[in-house]
Amino acid sequence: MSTNTELLQNQLAAELSEAREPKDIEALRVKYLGRQGLIAGEVRGTDFSTLSEEEKREAGRRVSSLKAFAEAAIGEARAKTEERAARARRRGLVDLTLPGTGARAGSLHPVTQTQMFLEDVFQSMGFRVETGFEVEDEFYNFDALNIPGDHPARDMHDTFWLEDGRLLRTHTSATQVRAMRMYGAPLRAVFPGRCFRNEATDTSHETTFHQFEGLMIDEDVTVATVLAVMEALLRQVFGREVSVRLRPGYFPFVEPGFELDLRCLICGGNGCRVCKQTGWVELMPCGMVHPNVLRAGGIDQDRYRGFAFGLGLTRLTMMNFSIPDIRLLGSGDLRLLDQFPAVL
Ligand code: DAH
Repeated sequence: MSTNTELLQNQLAAELSEAREPKDIEALRVKYLGRQGLIAGEVRGTDFSTLSEEEKREAGRRVSSLKAFAEAAIGEARAKTEERAARARRRGLVDLTLPGTGARAGSLHPVTQTQMFLEDVFQSMGFRVETGFEVEDEFYNFDALNIPGDHPARDMHDTFWLEDGRLLRTHTSATQVRAMRMYGAPLRAVFPGRCFRNEATDTSHETTFHQFEGLMIDEDVTVATVLAVMEALLRQVFGREVSVRLRPGYFPFVEPGFELDLRCLICGGNGCRVCKQTGWVELMPCGMVHPNVLRAGGIDQDRYRGFAFGLGLTRLTMMNFSIPDIRLLGSGDLRLLDQFPAVL
């Protein structure tokens, strides 16, 4: 027994010096000090009836001192590994074998989602998609669209001018004449994209916004074609019948020109901030392409007529997703964007 307690003490000391992790130390505690452990086994394995009183006392002392040694050594080793772990954590060492935190899935901006959806609808009706240029020539943004320099319509557009005389396009109509010159007639095309105006912002105005322009040039295009295409489109966009109204509207590049209004989808027509309490949202100006514009585009006017529309892509997105303030869209605020899961 005497040699056994010494052996056990040495063996425990050796094993403790190898232990690195708190769990190794706990395993040693169970192995030596547990109820079925080696020290208890040592006591159980001794036949005390063969020992003299003196020998019994001696055996008892040895076991007690072995136990005391084991408790102290294990306690000390545990403190050491915990200190080492804390130091590693402070140095930022990470356990690469642990499972990671899940990667965050991005999503498409609600305006992008609406744009992609519209592109699909129009492509299914035979329209091509052209994005045009955000930095435009004055000619395509204004002159070619029957808006000469002294025309009062230029007042409607507070333009960001560049130092070289070009500008940030104020509307996607700027791509109309470019497309006519590039593709000729017949032509079915839509022009989605960002537009810019130097104006005061509020819940429905921003300096940067999106439009979605449409142009159709063919032999027998009439106002009835405009209505048929628009009805087909809006039914698909909203997935239900919607209320619209046409008012005469003036735009230099169409004749006749119209305003297509949509009954406000946010308040159902009762009046709210978005529709400025009128119950109607100006959704889309449109009209028959003005002869001067067809001429600028090199289109044979004896054969062809065209219609055009300028859809407020930003406004449509707000309607569709019930977003009450246009400024949220460009804010980059994840509390908004997180609400639009990826659709691909
Ligand atoms: N470009 C016009 C604007 O931004 C909108 C517009 C009006 C486009 C009439 C059109 C149209 O195609 O026919 O205010």
